[in-house]
Formats: sequence, structure tokens, C-alpha cells
Amino acid sequence: MGVKVGLVGAGAMGRKHLRALATDARAEIVGVADAVEDAARAAAADAGAAACRDLDDLAALGVDAVFVTLPNVHHGRVVLAALDRGFHVFSEKPMATDLGEARAIRDRVRRGRAVYQMGFNRRWAPAYRFLRRHIDAGFAPYSANVRINDGDMLTPSWYTDVAVSGGFMYDTAVHLVDLIAWLIGPVESVSAIGRRSCYPDYDDIALLLRCRGDRPVALTTCGHASWAAPQERMELYGDHALLASEDLDRVRLTTRDLPHAEWQRLPAPDELTLWGYVDEDRAFIDACLEGTPPPVGVEDAFHSVAVLAAAYENIRRGGAPVPVSRD
Ligand SMILES: NC(=O)c1ccc[n+]([C@@H]2O[C@H](COP(=O)([O-])OP(=O)(O)OC[C@H]3O[C@@H](n4cnc5c(N)ncnc54)[C@H](O)[C@@H]3O)[C@@H](O)[C@H]2O)c1
Repeated sequence: MGVKVGLVGAGAMGRKHLRALATDARAEIVGVADAVEDAARAAAADAGAAACRDLDDLAALGVDAVFVTLPNVHHGRVVLAALDRGFHVFSEKPMATDLGEARAIRDRVRRGRAVYQMGFNRRWAPAYRFLRRHIDAGFAPYSANVRINDGDMLTPSWYTDVAVSGGFMYDTAVHLVDLIAWLIGPVESVSAIGRRSCYPDYDDIALLLRCRGDRPVALTTCGHASWAAPQERMELYGDHALLASEDLDRVRLTTRDLPHAEWQRLPAPDELTLWGYVDEDRAFIDACLEGTPPPVGVEDAFHSVAVLAAAYENIRRGGAPVPVSRD
């Protein structure tokens, strides 16, 4: 028996998930919903599914699970409505653009039995898997230097509208906040400074994060850096050792004995796999079928929003580092 899947939000990301899900025979895509009829119709036709308007239409098709791939500000309301109907939910990031809504989702998921998985696809990208494997094998990161940039903030059209995006960092930096927590440890407090340089939103931001075990991490993010590679880079500092990644497939481990170790490029069969979408969707279907906790769950999702809420508070008000809410 498979999982009947519906999707809400047939834009760029929704269509990627439809393509990733099509590689998993256990996922039956039954409906695709979008506020724009043509968008729903075109994506549904490509997926061999019915075009829908909303969750009501998807419910009528008997879905077991929904993918929420709407612009950020709509995630909270639609996810809560889907959980109310008893559907399993895969939500694109961010969990919500507001800590109160994130709390409501977390509490609902804690109370119920539905699977809730957050779209932190980078955890499945080859470079970050490599870092994680070395940490599991004993590499202890004491501190880190991390950055992620965008070349511009022109796509999607709502990216620079804070009322829809929640803020620049809810789009891309949120992925690195999750990776820092996953690879180094949960973030306990945040200092941040930001500048509005090329767009109306803060688009140049530097964060200082204190992770569990008093591990300092510097994270910078820029929304207008040109698209020159690497867009993202992580350097983890261990005991006379450096574990580094660039973008999704370049990695290097240097040590006192091997200071000139070469960069390695890790292979992926295609772009959807390189970005982690194929494996994250497969993991979600596993969790739906087996009733097991998803690999990126509601507590991870909540933590990332709590870190960003603390960061934006510190950007706006200045002053001492802001503790990251745990409840
Ligand atoms: N994990 C990743 O790598 C990644 C990459 C890109 C985008 N995303 C996330 O995916 C989500 C979608 O981003 P996108 O780039 O596909 O945006 P998009 O603008 O291309 O698509 C959004 C779609 O939602 C539809 N829509 C808007 N409001 C709606 C509503 N109220 N009800 C129904 N449909 C509505 C739009 O018509 C559009 O088709 C965002 O949350 C974004 O942060 C994740």
C-alpha cells in the first residue's frame, strides 16, 4: 500500500517536489492545488493528477499526506488546517514566519499522530552528509565559520516583501541555521547586526551564535552577492583539523598531518538528488508508511524559527545577545 499525496502550491518548488515524488513508486500523487487555476492545471497534468483549488478539493480525493509549497507566510495556516484534517504534512521551509504560529504547529504535532516533516533538504546533500559522517565518526567541531549568499532577491517575486517572506533569512539562511544546529549543536543565544543595502529588507546580515557547549559560530548572509560559486560555505574547526564544504558537493578535511588535503567533489546522479529533494521526499514517505518519526521533525523546525526570531529581535533592538526560545 502506498501514500496518496496532494500538493498545495504549484510554483517552482512545488513542481520540484512533484518530480522528486514521481521517482518513488510508493507515492501516488492524486491532486495538485494552487490559487492560480492555470498553475494547478499545468502541474497536475504533468503529474497525472487532478487539478484542485485547495485542501477541501484534496480531501475529497482522499489524500493521506499533503506537501505545502506555498509562499512562506501561508505555511502556518495551511499546515494547521491540514493537521486538523488528520493529514501527514511535508512543509517547505520556513515552518512559519512568526514564532506564535510555529508554536501552534509544534503543539498540534506533539499532541497528534500525524507525521510532520520540514523541508531542510540540505541534510541530504552529499557535502553535508559528508560533514555529518565525520562528526558521527568523532570529529568534534569547537567553532565554525559559515556563510550563505544569494546573487539577487528577484525570484520569486514575493522574496523582498517581508509581509510574505517573513524576512530575508527565512528564505535561505534558515537552511544553514538548521545545519549549524544539526552539525554543531542547538543555538542558545544570538547577536546580530543587519543592513538594508540593495533591497527594502535587511539583505546584509552577520550573526554570532552561541551553540550548546559554548561553541561560537559566525554566520553571514548577503542577498546581492552575484551568483559566483560558492554560494555557501561551511568551515568547522576541530582539534587541529578543519572540515569544510562548499555548495552541495565539495568537501575537504585537513589535519595537522595532512594540511594540504585536496578538495573532493562528491557525485550525485542528477540535480534533484544533489539538492536532497529525492531523498527527503523518500524519507517522508517512509515515515508516513512506517509511522516512524521523520528525520527532520517539528522540534528541528521550531528551533530554526526561534533562532531567526531572536536574530531579528537583536537586529531591531540591539543590546545584549538574545536567548533562543525553547518553548
Ligand atoms: N527547500 C528549498 O530548496 C526551497 C527552494 C525554493 C523555495 N522553497 C520554498 O518553497 C516555497 C514556495 O516557493 P516557490 O519558489 O515555489 O514560490 P512560487 O512563487 O514559485 O510558488 C508559489 C505558488 O503558490 C501559489 N499560491 C500563492 N498563494 C497561494 C494561496 N494562498 N493558496 C494557494 N496557492 C497559492 C502561487 O500561485 C504559486 O504557484 C517557499 O516557502 C520557499 O521558501 C524551498
